Amino acid sequence: MAYNLLKGKKGIIFGALNDQSLAWKIAKRAVEEGAEITLSNTPMALRLGTLKQLSEECNAPIYVADATSFTEIENVFKQSMDHFGGKIDFFLHSIGMSMNVRKSLPYDNLNYDFLMKTLDISGVSFHRMLQVARKLDAINDWGSVVALSYIAAQRTFHRYNDMSEAKAILESIARSFGYMYGRDKKIRINTISQSPTATTAGSGVKGFDSLLDFTDRMSPLGNASADECADYCITLFSDLTRKVTMQNLFHDGGFSSMGMSLRAMQVIDKEI
Ligand SMILES: NC(=O)c1ccc[n+]([C@@H]2O[C@H](COP(=O)([O-])OP(=O)(O)OC[C@H]3O[C@@H](n4cnc5c(N)ncnc54)[C@H](O)[C@@H]3O)[C@@H](O)[C@H]2O)c1
Repeated sequence: MAYNLLKGKKGIIFGALNDQSLAWKIAKRAVEEGAEITLSNTPMALRLGTLKQLSEECNAPIYVADATSFTEIENVFKQSMDHFGGKIDFFLHSIGMSMNVRKSLPYDNLNYDFLMKTLDISGVSFHRMLQVARKLDAINDWGSVVALSYIAAQRTFHRYNDMSEAKAILESIARSFGYMYGRDKKIRINTISQSPTATTAGSGVKGFDSLLDFTDRMSPLGNASADECADYCITLFSDLTRKVTMQNLFHDGGFSSMGMSLRAMQVIDKEI
């Protein structure tokens, strides 16, 4: 059901690859709620994914950019402002990539060039977007910025590897930039820490199905789906959450507050 929560708002969605992507669901929900959006991803994502379909469905232009390039990110913001004829109200950072994970290099045998790439693409790029937005004065006062994170930023999760460091950086940037942007422009910045979700990036973590089963068993409300993530994200872009900022918000069915559940215990009991 749509509530017109984003009526008249304009935003940029970074990171929709295909219809499994969290950013895809968020883009669709934003438009359903009355927003106008632009989309951005890498040239490779355009070749391998189905972003053009989303662009047609949402009547949204695509501006190609690699999140590691200041100039390309700057162009996305400039082109989006040209397209809208003014400033934006929100943007979503939904970007993650680790070559160490892709190549199955374990945490105690990391390739450091890959590590730097992981941190740059998945963490520092959030700072880059905020810095560009601030320099261009691209976001209206009381605007909202969201990035997607994962609980492995704060607790140790087997096989999440160097993405944990990237997510820790991401969450810290939301606090540090959240102070400056909040103080000066009333713009809020938050991260959503989402349940494991079957997407291209999510499924890249080895043993993902077991993780999905475990977190579902541990969470009193069950894992949060991609559609539910989109719903939550829309509330953060909307005017209903104008005083929420600098937070890492768990959207995980209660998982982050659990120690052990009956449903998880039942599996362990069977194995002993
Ligand atoms: N799927 C999960 O289990 C889960 C859980 C919590 C958080 N997240 C986070 O959600 C976000 C979106 O991931 P997803 O699960 O929707 O997977 P996804 O694979 O659909 O999205 C990842 C996106 O990152 C983009 N990307 C990679 N390198 C890039 C670069 N150099 N420049 C610009 N874009 C680049 C990809 O093209 C892709 O669109 C990520 O930050 C991910 O860590 C995912």
